[in-house]
Amino acid sequence: MHFVRTTAITILALGLSFISPSQALTSESGLLPTYDYVIVGAGVSGLTVANRLSENESLSILVIEAGEFDQDEDYILIPGLAGTGIGSKYDWNLTYVGNPDLGNRSVSIPLGKAVGGSSLLNRMTFDRGSRADYDRWKTLGNSGWGWTDLFPFFKKSENFTPPTSDIIDEWNVTYDQSVHGTTGNVQSSYAPWIWPSTKHFISAVTDLEVRIPLDGASGDALGGFFVSHNQDPVTATRSDARRAYWDPASGRPNLQLVTGRKVTKLLNRQTARGVQITGVEFAPSPYAQRSIVHARKEVILAAGAIHSPQLLQLSGIGDPALLARHNISTVSNVPGVGRNFQDHLYVPVVFSFDFPLTATNLTTNSTFAAESLALYHTDQTGPYADATGDFLAFLPTANFTSQTSAIQQLAQSQHTTLYLDPDTPATLARGYASQHELLTTGLAAENEAQLEIIWSDGTFILGLQHPFSRGSVRLASSDPFTPPLADPAYLRNPVDVAILVEAIKYARSLAQTPSLAAFNPVELVPGGNVTSDSDLEAYIRGAADSLFHPSGTCSVGRVELGGVVDTDFRVHGVSGLRVVDASVFPLLPATHIQSSVYAVAEKAAVAILSS
Ligand SMILES: Cc1cc2nc3c(=O)[nH]c(=O)nc-3n(C[C@H](O)[C@H](O)[C@H](O)COP(=O)(O)OP(=O)(O)OC[C@H]3O[C@@H](n4cnc5c(N)ncnc54)[C@H](O)[C@@H]3O)c2cc1C
Ligand SMILES: *[C@@H]1O[C@H](CO)[C@@H](O)[C@H](O)[C@H]1NC(C)=O
Ligand SMILES: *[C@@H]1O[C@H](CO)[C@@H](O)[C@H](O)[C@H]1NC(C)=O
Ligand SMILES: *[C@@H]1O[C@H](CO)[C@@H](O)[C@H](O)[C@H]1NC(C)=O
Ligand SMILES: *[C@@H]1O[C@H](CO)[C@@H](O)[C@H](O)[C@H]1NC(C)=O
Ligand SMILES: *[C@@H]1O[C@H](CO)[C@@H](O)[C@H](O)[C@H]1NC(C)=O
Ligand SMILES: *[C@@H]1O[C@H](CO)[C@@H](O)[C@H](O)[C@H]1NC(C)=O
Ligand SMILES: *[C@@H]1O[C@H](CO)[C@@H](O)[C@H](O)[C@H]1NC(C)=O
Ligand SMILES: *[C@@H]1O[C@H](CO)[C@@H](O)[C@H](O)[C@H]1NC(C)=O
Ligand SMILES: *[C@@H]1O[C@H](CO)[C@@H](O)[C@H](O)[C@H]1NC(C)=O
Repeated sequence: MHFVRTTAITILALGLSFISPSQALTSESGLLPTYDYVIVGAGVSGLTVANRLSENESLSILVIEAGEFDQDEDYILIPGLAGTGIGSKYDWNLTYVGNPDLGNRSVSIPLGKAVGGSSLLNRMTFDRGSRADYDRWKTLGNSGWGWTDLFPFFKKSENFTPPTSDIIDEWNVTYDQSVHGTTGNVQSSYAPWIWPSTKHFISAVTDLEVRIPLDGASGDALGGFFVSHNQDPVTATRSDARRAYWDPASGRPNLQLVTGRKVTKLLNRQTARGVQITGVEFAPSPYAQRSIVHARKEVILAAGAIHSPQLLQLSGIGDPALLARHNISTVSNVPGVGRNFQDHLYVPVVFSFDFPLTATNLTTNSTFAAESLALYHTDQTGPYADATGDFLAFLPTANFTSQTSAIQQLAQSQHTTLYLDPDTPATLARGYASQHELLTTGLAAENEAQLEIIWSDGTFILGLQHPFSRGSVRLASSDPFTPPLADPAYLRNPVDVAILVEAIKYARSLAQTPSLAAFNPVELVPGGNVTSDSDLEAYIRGAADSLFHPSGTCSVGRVELGGVVDTDFRVHGVSGLRVVDASVFPLLPATHIQSSVYAVAEKAAVAILSS
């Protein structure tokens, strides 16, 4: 299937042999009225699915993306600048709703708005969770969603390069080649240069007898280990979804992408067998005329965990009670849409140490910064080649606190509905009861990490891995250009607070290990006088912030348990519609989630192509 574009025809008629090098469009002209598949969102999941579907030349695919292409900016490409794209023109600039459990603070939630989605803004750790994290997805009733089912898809998306011999010699990095993919799309490699204070963090966790697995990517992501980054090993530049999945497919005549267009609504028609999704409506700006495009086979939502549920609700797919508030008539009653919202959050514990060289030197010493940048450009190494977060620790409860049974008792004593939104539909409450039971068991499990520790030159970033709290994404307005009300309900459930209280005490004991005590630690935040559990709790509620992993809002699962999609990613109650992004995760895994999003999207592509 080849697209014939009027511009090309006109030029050919003039006798010129012009063929567009790319199928990327910036306006409606050049679009066909109908495609086999219309994909909403060109982020991690959308571009993965677009690439795989378009491998079949007889299928036609359109991707619609609200943002634009990046322009190879340094803050996109250079690992040492990872994270500085937050707040740029490639960020949706959203904030979560004010949270009474955080003293009414509104936490900002960066989200990519560009070809590549959040993979352009992310911090580039390319790790995986533990076997048990994914096996729980299956235990919840989703066959085909366990670790062994997903493992081939993790490999399929990855192009792994082992650490260099210099890095292995200096850092003792171990890895298991057999668990990695080497023919996949995303470049996965280790930083060629690592900030030296990382050594003292490794020694400190070793002092406290944290285990070091052979390779965290094997499903054994428990303990402290080096992780790869989504980074090209030769150029030391970011390997994001645009570069990994769009660029190599951009010349395919059966794949088109239109940028700067927001999908505002899904189109449907009533058939004898129920409601069928037939296409989408989209526009460049709030007051612009809406255009439409039809999908012969399916519409595929890949707009991310905040925008996919918004679009479903705008289109009448969701909880009728919520839709009615905005005068949206219900097309399909799927109460789970926008519920089960989860995000990883963290609190920092900040020490000063007498380290001779840290990332701060880049800002305090312009000579050092200039030399480092020159080194990066000539040799693709040095501080700017390191996205940081090279060695991460993931710990089960009993490995960082003696309070495991007290915390587990707190969870067991809860009525499972107590901390849910009061208007939570019964199906969701039932599904959450199963989750709560798994989470409670997990608190005492040796094979599930509750805490992540990221080291940042003296700051311990303490990430809560399996939150008990559940929030929601709800329409603020029936205007598609008004951001939805997104509420991860951080720290609503006191179990989440109890874990972080213990995590702070553990960070303090890390700072007092012989390996770190040698550098004269002085606790700056929250401060050595903040010691009682209630003072620690007050600090946690005042400081908690996002680790940028929103998910769960269109989870896989049976509709009776609050699920939104079936195990083949089809939205319940309608035909011709799937969701393939981070919103389908029923529970967060203990990891940074992009490699899981890629793997799940690879699985989705196979499901789509085989039905
Ligand atoms: C600042 C930051 C740091 C992170 N750090 C890491 C990390 O170090 N490691 C890691 O593993 N993960 C990290 N993540 C998380 C990871 O990037 C995301 O989990 C992943 O990108 C989610 O993929 P997705 O396909 O669900 O959504 P996205 O990649 O966000 O893609 C969604 C796309 O849909 C588009 N879109 C939305 N609504 C519409 C609409 N209505 N019409 C058209 N287009 C629309 C968006 O513009 C976007 O391009 C980070 C994320 C952020 C934001
Ligand atoms: C490509 O898609 C067409 C149309 O769905 C299908 O008939 C054909 O079998 C597919 N080809 C391959 C190689 O999968
Ligand atoms: C986000 O805010 C920044 C700074 O105010 C702005 O430059 C950028 O355009 C905004 N992004 C979007 C998508 O509006
Ligand atoms: C948070 O806001 C609510 C409602 O406006 C108010 O009742 C409450 O006192 C506020 N809490 C704090 C800590 O400011
Ligand atoms: C690497 O291992 C050697 C030998 O066990 C040890 O002396 C050294 O400190 C280790 N280096 C790091 C960075 O852990
Ligand atoms: C946790 O502690 C147990 C018991 O000491 C030990 O066997 C296990 O390896 C530790 N796990 C991690 C991740 O360090
Ligand atoms: C819904 O419709 C009713 C009746 O037409 C109107 O009074 C109300 O303002 C509308 N509400 C919204 C949120 O648009
Ligand atoms: C880095 O900063 C430390 C602490 O201020 C200082 O002792 C050291 O000399 C600096 N090194 C460089 C290369 O700037
Ligand atoms: C700044 O960095 C340069 C180059 O690394 C180094 O020679 C110099 O000593 C540093 N200055 C300070 C004050 O640390
Ligand atoms: C700790 O000390 C700081 C600085 O003196 C003070 O502002 C803060 O209130 C104290 N906190 C507690 C819990 O005592």
